[in-house]
Amino acid sequence: MKILVTAGPTREYLDPVRFLSNPSSGKMGYAIAQAAQQKGHEVVLISGPSYLQPPKELQFVSIVSADEMKQQVDQWFEWADGVVMTAAVSDFKPKTRSSQKVKKQDEAALSVEWVQNPDILFELGQKKGKKWLVGFAAESKAILEHAQQKLENKNLDMIVVNDISQKEGGFESDQNQVHLIASNGAIEDIPKMSKSQIAEKLMEKIESKFAS
Ligand code: CTP
Repeated sequence: MKILVTAGPTREYLDPVRFLSNPSSGKMGYAIAQAAQQKGHEVVLISGPSYLQPPKELQFVSIVSADEMKQQVDQWFEWADGVVMTAAVSDFKPKTRSSQKVKKQDEAALSVEWVQNPDILFELGQKKGKKWLVGFAAESKAILEHAQQKLENKNLDMIVVNDISQKEGGFESDQNQVHLIASNGAIEDIPKMSKSQIAEKLMEKIESKFAS
């Protein structure tokens, strides 16, 4: 299959040196891209800023902001059979961006006006046709219900949900504990394991559900 994977955070700059972002490391997305490639699929990995080395021998696209991620995802969507969207896309961006570094004397800088970023996965869900979509959700309460709502709202085939209220696991950890929810409502609990093991399991699931 031709698989598009997104990973990492986005950065939404206020001025040349300051940005809104999140602690996503990119580990889950990179592990999925690698697992997919090792299984013989063609992979494009679109990633926000990460300290990880891009896996070799796959097409790698580096982006910074949510708008840039959307532009690249839309461009590659035509090519792909399916998309795994692990990126922690910032929901907001500053309404304006100063071309010069804002000085601390500038009192107007104390309040920032935010606008919403596009919901990239939602928009893919509107035009997906025969392509398959796998989303990720980080939830801290009523995790299965909230993830199920996202799955329906974004028209996904599967969602991988992780409980960020747990001490270990989540954004920067090497391990994670997740649940897979399919569009028919079936839930599979994956016990705590390394992100590369989760990537393996997820790829097996993706192959069994979507490979023709
Ligand atoms: N996502 C996206 N574009 C956004 C926000 C999220 O494509 N602007 C994708 C993420 O990559 C993930 C899924 O949507 O696969 C769910 O992301 P999440 O942040 O959990 O959900 P949100 O839709 O942002 O909802 P909320 O922040 O209210 O929980």
